[in-house]
Amino acid sequence: MLLSREIYSFLKSAGNNSKLIFTKKREVFTNFYTCANNAARVSFKLSDIGEGIREVTVKEWFVKVGDKVSQFDEICEVQSDKASVTITSRYDGIIKKLHYEIDQIAPVGKPLVDIEVEGDETEEPAPTEIENKDKKSKEEKIADKPEHNRANEEILCIPSVRRLAKEYKLNLSKIKGTGKDGRILKEDILKYLNIESDEAQMQIKPSKPTFGDKTEPIKGFQKAMVKTMTASLKIPHFVYGDEIVVTKLSQLRKTVKKLPQSKDVKLSFMPFFIKAASNALQRYPIINATVDENCENVTYKTEHNIGIAMDTKMGLAVPVIKNVQKLSIIEISNELNRLITSGRDGTFSTEDLSAGTFTISNIGAIGGTYMKPVIMSPQLALIAMGASQILPRFDEFNNVVAEEILHLSGVADHRIVDGATMARFVQVLKKQIENPYLLFLNL
Ligand code: COA
Repeated sequence: MLLSREIYSFLKSAGNNSKLIFTKKREVFTNFYTCANNAARVSFKLSDIGEGIREVTVKEWFVKVGDKVSQFDEICEVQSDKASVTITSRYDGIIKKLHYEIDQIAPVGKPLVDIEVEGDETEEPAPTEIENKDKKSKEEKIADKPEHNRANEEILCIPSVRRLAKEYKLNLSKIKGTGKDGRILKEDILKYLNIESDEAQMQIKPSKPTFGDKTEPIKGFQKAMVKTMTASLKIPHFVYGDEIVVTKLSQLRKTVKKLPQSKDVKLSFMPFFIKAASNALQRYPIINATVDENCENVTYKTEHNIGIAMDTKMGLAVPVIKNVQKLSIIEISNELNRLITSGRDGTFSTEDLSAGTFTISNIGAIGGTYMKPVIMSPQLALIAMGASQILPRFDEFNNVVAEEILHLSGVADHRIVDGATMARFVQVLKKQIENPYLLFLNL
């Protein structure tokens, strides 16, 4: 157990069974009182997760009252408006109280669980009880735990998958995970159950007939959307649109797809647009700047951290590809695909979702020609692409030719960026996309 020497001797001198009001020594030891046989009850608080997160939603408990836990055992899964985080124990002890129900909001700094710890150890608590899902590999997690404890809760998967497994009383260790680091995906469970069609998937959770209106709290990523979009609409926006001929780019993608060495490469339009945007940002640094809340200072960012608006199972998320100016198109593609997988599995880290300096939204992946996007404050600009279409256009000899075209909308903060600068930025990007050799040469 985990009492500091000072605290422990204080407890001992107070004697068994005595109620003890404890002055704050370390934050984790507040709300501390003794129980019988040197056991003490600690209120284990939700620590600061960073990124200005003030509260989280409890998504799943991995323990119940009466369970014995050891340090690093997973206690619960919480979801902030930025990421999903697994909380692990700092203590060896017995769970005495869970402070929240599933889907309740837990504020940072308030007790999450009460744990009864044995009072005869003098070690300091392990420094962190919060573990971003991506930080530990499955192997490390398993190695942390005693053999007898290995069970369903140690296997990597998101809470909804764990719930599904529980519902069907499945032993997760028997299911082969095909996600990152062997993570078990919903598809793996369905495959295991031999239910693969969409129709069959729907049978798993028949939607209950609804009677009347339903009100539910706004949580998680949706809550983030409330915050960012409300801030966004305080900004005077202007929108600038143009069409981009992607015929040559499409041809290039088809050629690359046929190459044997690109067998494992998934190369959509996005990595090219991301690279072209970064090349254009080099020429117009004001587009890659941020502004402070009172609109008094502009900060020009050296890194091109490009956020990608992404339609994920949890709702709209904007994960960020960092330092695009240093990445090749293949590296951008790999990073994009990693983020798409994280979006699908619900495993973004806080780092994945922060520090964006410019954003791209490809709504065309879903469909639709035009879009009027809004800025992600404190960024100053964003571009959105519609779906490409084959349309008739005139060539240089006035012949009608079939071209693949998509519409691009650029939006900027008109307090800081003028229309001419945004137009020039988009024109550089357009030229590079329409003539991919210029993109590779960055001309
Ligand atoms: N026009 C035509 N086809 C497009 C397209 C476009 N603008 N964008 C993508 N496609 C095609 C791709 O080429 C791919 O087809 P292929 O496999 O035959 O090459 C297919 O659509 C699927 O693309 P996708 O796997 O979605 O990859 P992507 O890299 O193009 O896009 C995301 C990735 C994350 C941007 C996209 O999946 C997404 O979530 N878009 C929605 C963004 C959103 O919600 N914006 C609104 C913000 S309010």
